[in-house]
Amino acid sequence: MEVVVLDTPAEVASLAADTIEDVVRSGASAGTPAVLGLATGSTPLATYDELIRRARDGRGPSYDGVETFNLDEYVGLPDGHEQSYLATIRREFTDAIGIPPERVHGPDPTAETLPTAGERYEAAIVAAGGIEVQILGIGSDGHLAFNEPGSSLASLTRIKTLTATTRKDNARFFGSPDAVPRHVLTQGLGTITRAGHLLMLATGEGKAEAVAAAVEGPVSATCPASVLQLHPHVSVLLDEAAASRLVRLDYYREVYAGKPDWQGL
Ligand code: PGA
Repeated sequence: MEVVVLDTPAEVASLAADTIEDVVRSGASAGTPAVLGLATGSTPLATYDELIRRARDGRGPSYDGVETFNLDEYVGLPDGHEQSYLATIRREFTDAIGIPPERVHGPDPTAETLPTAGERYEAAIVAAGGIEVQILGIGSDGHLAFNEPGSSLASLTRIKTLTATTRKDNARFFGSPDAVPRHVLTQGLGTITRAGHLLMLATGEGKAEAVAAAVEGPVSATCPASVLQLHPHVSVLLDEAAASRLVRLDYYREVYAGKPDWQGL
């Protein structure tokens, strides 16, 4: 696991954008457009904004043929609800960057077909060739996507019940914790760890404890994000505040400062 501690959230966004663009560029030049794993939530917004800014300035790669897969989706929202994660990712990223809706995927929360939604989503990811790079945030309770504490480290896409902490954290999008749906569909921890490269982003003091547990604590379902320790290619991009509880901070800085120029994340 490579832990990169940067001065500001803007630097986190810039490095994450570089990494996504590298994957998109190499897909384009190989003739096999990239498959990106996208996360909703507040943290990746600065990265999406940076990618959109570069594309508008003519500095970005071509997104022709790129497909995207969301991590998760609320269950029980009315059709077309603006807080659905599919609507959110289109509004915040894919529409602006020019990835058409038919190539933007998320778990299907339609009530009538809910029992098969998980296996259908797993099959869609496999059919697309698998996710090359997966952007991840982390919950203040250590969740990864909507895999709440106690989730199996081998889990696949399925329905989950949100914790009270997560519903409180997400109340800002719905007006009150009671208005936040109780149930979600989420890629499992086993699904997430099949992606080629995991890019976890965390900024702000509120994430410091969860980051420390994920990076330096024991691998345990109690902190679902600790599953990152089992993956061979993980980059954890942090600002100073989110990194503030890490014990090996000096070492991470030393490693990054001495990183060879030829080596990307
Ligand atoms: P946030 O959410 O980026 O809005 O903090 C992260 C998460 O809950 O996984």
